[in-house]
Amino acid sequence: MYGGLRKLTHIKIAPSILAADFGQLQQEINVIEKHSDELHIDVMDGHFVPAITMGPVILKSLKTTLPVDVHLMVFNPEKYVEAFAHAGAKNISFHVEATQKPGEVIAAIIKAGCTAGIAINPETPIEKVMMLVPDVDRIVVMSVRPGAAGQLFIPSVLSKVMFLRKMTTKDIEIDGGITADNVKKAVDAGANIIVAANAIFGQKDRVKAIEELRNGFAP
Ligand code: DX5
Ligand code: ZN
Repeated sequence: MYGGLRKLTHIKIAPSILAADFGQLQQEINVIEKHSDELHIDVMDGHFVPAITMGPVILKSLKTTLPVDVHLMVFNPEKYVEAFAHAGAKNISFHVEATQKPGEVIAAIIKAGCTAGIAINPETPIEKVMMLVPDVDRIVVMSVRPGAAGQLFIPSVLSKVMFLRKMTTKDIEIDGGITADNVKKAVDAGANIIVAANAIFGQKDRVKAIEELRNGFAP
């Protein structure tokens, strides 16, 4: 099982700024930076998901020493790869549901100098991403329907994480509804990158919230 890999792998915490105070976004990042492993940027286009969030202009204006993980919840993701790479993305993930040509999107991401991730919605069968696993650096298992922070974790996606962990040692990111109370389930299933918006930026003390998340999966 995952036990052996877990000992070798550092579990990464990736705060999503979606639940941060956008009026003081830079200060919000400064506070969590030393306590986190990646910065998760949720990009929504108003089509793939109803909400609109932020584009590369905002990312470019942010200063961080953290590797930036861009989560594209947009149709035609290939159109935006270069702009986000220039704006500072280290990893770019896109949705398997958002394109007919995932291979071309992955190639564009790699050409832009980033690592590539493929994200899968809770209701999408695992078969849709299995063929792509060899070509990406990470798989993002959505544990809520994409579109908003602060939703309830959908436990049935854990079987997807377990299935993927049996077939790969690559990064498996879990995204949505993670709290200090359920994070252990995700880590035990095989996730090693933990995204959290509300569980961090929805709490008064962001640093304490990150500590609580880490304590939540500590062996
Ligand atoms: C959902 C986003 C998530 C979201 C997570 O569409 O992809 O990254 O910000 O928010 P929480 O952790 O509050 O569920
Ligand atoms: Zn996300």
